[in-house]
Amino acid sequence: MSRRFEGKVVVVTGAGSGIGRAMATAFSLEGARVVAADLNRATAEETADGLENAFAAGVDVSEAASVASLISDTQAHQGRLDILCNNAGIGSSKTIVDCEPDEWDRLFAVNVRGVYLGCKYAIPLMIARGGGVIVNTASVAGLVGLPDRAAYCASKGAVVTLTKQVAVDYVAHGIRCNCICPGTVDTPWVGRLLKEAADPTALRAELVARQPMGRLGTAEEVAQAALYLASDDAAFVTGTALVIDGGLIAR
Ligand SMILES: NC(=O)c1ccc[n+]([C@@H]2O[C@H](COP(=O)([O-])OP(=O)(O)OC[C@H]3O[C@@H](n4cnc5c(N)ncnc54)[C@H](O)[C@@H]3O)[C@@H](O)[C@H]2O)c1
Repeated sequence: MSRRFEGKVVVVTGAGSGIGRAMATAFSLEGARVVAADLNRATAEETADGLENAFAAGVDVSEAASVASLISDTQAHQGRLDILCNNAGIGSSKTIVDCEPDEWDRLFAVNVRGVYLGCKYAIPLMIARGGGVIVNTASVAGLVGLPDRAAYCASKGAVVTLTKQVAVDYVAHGIRCNCICPGTVDTPWVGRLLKEAADPTALRAELVARQPMGRLGTAEEVAQAALYLASDDAAFVTGTALVIDGGLIAR
């Protein structure tokens, strides 16, 4: 196992479940000190408890004061912030006609405002240290139109473009900003989708059938893509949207 993140401090949002938990775990295994942050503090604690040099934090990424505290507490307690993974996100399975304004606004508050706030408060600390890395979790839904995902596609499209914009503004400060675009990944998120379906077995079969590789992705596979972007292996990579989808949107 390589130790690419020895001495680095990483904040991961949405670290209480799924992809965020896998990111926190993978960073810790490679030597980072990890702040595992989630709206659900208990699940963030479960993540941190199983890891070396990991600390749990509660955060609501849609609230400015909450994100500002997460970042300033990290600086105060860990002495630095090298890598920020803006990973927390929520979904919505609606057409544009069926999506009510409140649902649209909540989704943008978490998925887009959350990324904006993370960048807003982390970047000044990174500039002061001479650099840093941001990895945002977008989605293939930010690159193509998926059925019944109006607000979700629009929000993740915003994350892709904001990632590129931040990359351009801060490249001269030694900050790289990239995003990952997972396809369908077997996390509790997909578990919830299946639970809500009229026929969960049929929906799972449908999700698998549309995968060129004949299977869903794992949170660990997605986490490895985030670690690559966060590492010095990606020193020449900024402003990119890395697709990890088993070929889903390739055809
Ligand atoms: N699972 C997939 O198929 C898939 C595909 C593409 C993109 N994504 C994206 O990956 C990210 C993680 O998804 P996942 O599948 O691990 O989902 P998940 O539901 O398993 O985990 C999401 C975590 O985010 C936390 N969270 C939600 N709102 C929050 C808030 N306001 N502040 C802080 N934390 C909050 C939740 O408590 C949860 O622990 C999301 O941004 C999602 O859009 C997931």
